[in-house]
Amino acid sequence: MAFKVRRLEADDDRSGFRSGNVDIDRFFARYAGQNQFRHHIGTTYVAIDEAGAIAGFATLSPSELAPEAMAVSKRKRLPKYPVPVLRLARLGVDERVKGRGIGSLLLRSVLVLAQRMADDFGCVGVVVDAKPEAVAFYGKLGFVQLDTVAGELGDRPQPVAMFLELGALGVGWSWCERQESNLHSLSGTRT
Ligand SMILES: CC(C)(COP(=O)(O)OP(=O)(O)OC[C@H]1O[C@@H](n2cnc3c(N)ncnc32)[C@H](O)[C@@H]1OP(=O)(O)O)[C@@H](O)C(=O)NCCC(=O)NCCS
Repeated sequence: MAFKVRRLEADDDRSGFRSGNVDIDRFFARYAGQNQFRHHIGTTYVAIDEAGAIAGFATLSPSELAPEAMAVSKRKRLPKYPVPVLRLARLGVDERVKGRGIGSLLLRSVLVLAQRMADDFGCVGVVVDAKPEAVAFYGKLGFVQLDTVAGELGDRPQPVAMFLELGALGVGWSWCERQESNLHSLSGTRT
């Protein structure tokens, strides 16, 4: 089955989505829409199957990264003030289609959007506060751990701050470029 990525639309049915993580599912059902359509604090992209059902989602917002969070070698090439990045705030894939490349498809679409942000107004890469169980997943896509302490989550497991630098993208990047026109056309409709 083919999957496509486009921007979330107001009438998308989000109620039946189950990633297996209750926090992520609650966010998607309750907050992804209002954050995008009412508050404009984050935009969600969905992977949809041929029948139009939502297979996965990624929520994004612009952010910035302090230079001291980066490895010393990277730091030398950048200014000493925070630099713009794209934040992957949430990522989830429905349990019925896990392990079929939807998470990777969404991440690669995020890289296309980060490159577009870089072209339009500046972006050095993508950051994510990864759940401990997802660190290996992000690592496979080239994310590296940042030299920083991630956000406080009380007694829950600490997330791991990770970063993928656009400038470090190699072979996989040509894949993204090929997908860009697809993402453009699919995400072109604003609600
Ligand atoms: C993590 C998640 C997004 C992965 O989505 P997915 O569609 O199953 O991932 P893919 O099929 O694209 O997997 C890509 C690769 O990562 C691997 N992978 C997937 N999940 C992994 C995990 N938790 N740990 C290690 N590797 C993982 C796959 O085996 C695959 O490897 P391969 O390319 O060698 O075959 C999904 O499992 C999920 O929604 N989890 C619950 C919510 C969550 O933890 N989100 C992340 C929040 S930070």
